[in-house]
Amino acid sequence: MGAMSKKLVIGNWKLHPDSFEEAERIIKTLSKVKVPSVSFVVCPPAVYLSRLSKGKKGFLFGVQDVFYESAGAYTGEYSATMAKSVGAQFAIVGHSERRALGETNTTVSKKALAAIKGRLTAVVCVGEKERDTHGHYLSYLKAQLDESLEGISKHYADKLVIAYEPLWAIGEKAIHAVSPRDLHEMVLFVRKVLHDSFGKRALSIPILYGGSVDSENAVPLLKEGMANGLLIGRESVKADHFAKIIRSVGSV
Ligand code: PGA
Repeated sequence: MGAMSKKLVIGNWKLHPDSFEEAERIIKTLSKVKVPSVSFVVCPPAVYLSRLSKGKKGFLFGVQDVFYESAGAYTGEYSATMAKSVGAQFAIVGHSERRALGETNTTVSKKALAAIKGRLTAVVCVGEKERDTHGHYLSYLKAQLDESLEGISKHYADKLVIAYEPLWAIGEKAIHAVSPRDLHEMVLFVRKVLHDSFGKRALSIPILYGGSVDSENAVPLLKEGMANGLLIGRESVKADHFAKIIRSVGSV
């Protein structure tokens, strides 16, 4: 990603919306959003990507997952090169909802590497399940980061984005988003762990926050929380809400 002056906002549509027509309507609204200080990316269900990205030069798309092999007998999977060829520039890997389906740190690291080698930017998701008073969540997070980035050399740092998404803050059942103050601590912590592996190149790796982001908390999470961007689930499928968040981020 390189320069950190621009904020990065990624929408993860998950398993929504129900039809291609609806997806196209959302993209149409978002196409009108032009905020020079914000790069935003939409990650629709992969089956929509080819048609959605057609003729949308300058609009950034990503996939929500990618397989770690480039070809072979792997029913149902798609490779980074395939995703790239239908318009993806980013690949989310290791989202907690995929980890809940059995993805391990080792799988995530293989996927991240495959994404990068397929010339996509890998958005590697990490986050603790719960907080405790002894700080065990910090060692959990460090191990998760180290293992999920295993094998990724520092020369690939510019193709890497980290999304810090504490599980307790994600989705309908979330209690609330992290507080900007706690987020700031976590951003510093993640940056330090990255620095241990990537040296000064770690400084250019964007650290995003995800989990119950909306138009109210987006700005404080970036300003006080010091995140370099946001990964947004529910609010990214509602075109007007997502547009509002992107515009508010432009004021940071
Ligand atoms: P949410 O999801 O914004 O709906 O909480 C975030 C995510 O899962 O990336």
